[in-house]
Amino acid sequence: MFYTLTLNPALDYVVETDGLRLGETNRSNESEIQLGGKGLNVSYVLGQLGVSSVALGFVAGFTGNELERLAAASGIKTDFVHLSHGMTRINIKLKGENETEINTSGPVVSDVELCELFSKLDALQSGDTLVMAGSIPPSLPNNIYEKIMQRLYNRGVRFAVDASKDVLLNTLKYKPLLIKPNLAELCETVGKALNSEAEILTAARFLQAKGALNVLVSMGEKGAVLVDSRGLEHRAPARQLTPVNTVGAGDSMVAGFLKGLQLGPENALRLAMAAASATAASKDLATKAEIEQFLR
Ligand SMILES: Nc1ncnc2c1ncn2[C@@H]1O[C@H](COP(=O)(O)OP(=O)(O)OP(=O)(O)O)[C@@H](O)[C@H]1O
Ligand SMILES: [Mg+2]
Repeated sequence: MFYTLTLNPALDYVVETDGLRLGETNRSNESEIQLGGKGLNVSYVLGQLGVSSVALGFVAGFTGNELERLAAASGIKTDFVHLSHGMTRINIKLKGENETEINTSGPVVSDVELCELFSKLDALQSGDTLVMAGSIPPSLPNNIYEKIMQRLYNRGVRFAVDASKDVLLNTLKYKPLLIKPNLAELCETVGKALNSEAEILTAARFLQAKGALNVLVSMGEKGAVLVDSRGLEHRAPARQLTPVNTVGAGDSMVAGFLKGLQLGPENALRLAMAAASATAASKDLATKAEIEQFLR
C-alpha cells in the first residue's frame, strides 16, 4: 500500500488579475480554489496511474473540511488528523503578468495531535511505501521526517522523501528508496553550485553514499538524471512541450517513478518523465490520458 504525508496541506486561492497595483482596489474576473499540498499531488497522480494510496497529514477548521471534500472529489483517499484549533491554510496565488504568492504558516499541531499521526503511521507494514513531501509547519520539529523513519524503518516500510538541506540529509541514514531533489535543492543540500552534469552526478552519488537508494535529480526544462540503486546512471532529456503550469511536475515525477519501479529503474524513469511532462503541459496535474499520451 502507498501512503503520502502532507503535514501542512493548503487550499490554493488562485486569482487572475491583469496587473496588480499595491495599495489600490484590484479586480479579478477569474478565481478558483484548488487543492494544494505535495503529498496530495503525489496521491492524485498515483491514482491516475492506477495505484491507490492514502493521504495522511493534518487538517483543521472549515478550510480543512473543504480540503477533504476536494480531495474526495479528486478520487484521493485521506485519513487526516483533525486539529482542534486553527484552520487549514489558504495560500494566495495572484496570477497576472508575473506571479505573486502568499503562503501562510498553517495551524499549530499539538503534541497530542502529533501522537495521533504517529498512531496512524504505526499501522504501516512491511512493503508499504510512505512518501513524505513538502514543508514542515513551524509548530512541528524540523526533524519530524527523520523521527517517522526511525520509527518505521525496522518494520520494512519504504520511503520516498522530497525535501532539501538538513531535512533531507538527516533522512538518508534510513535508506530512502527515492529522493527527488530538483537542481536548486540539490545545490542547497550539498552546499555548492553545480555547473555541469558531471558535478550533478557527483552530488547525487554523494547523497547515495549517505544512504539514499535511488537519487532522481529533476532539472525543469533540462530533464532529469537518475543514479539508480545499483549505482547506474540514466539520463532523460526533457520533452518538447509548451509549459502551461509546471507546479506539481516534480510531485508527478515521484508518483510516476514509484509506480514504474515495479518494472525496474529504466521503466521508472520513463514513467516519471511522462507524468512530469504531462503535468507541465497542462493547467492542472496530469490525468491518466495525458500521461498515456506522453508514454506514446
Ligand atoms: N518547462 C518544462 N519543459 C519540459 N519539461 C518540464 C518543464 N518543467 C518541468 N518539466 C518536467 O518536469 C520535471 C520536474 O520538474 P522540476 O525540476 O521543475 O520539478 P520541481 O521543481 O520539483 O517541481 P514541483 O516541486 O513544483 O513539483 C522535469 O524533470 C521535466 O521532466
Ligand atoms: Mg519539487
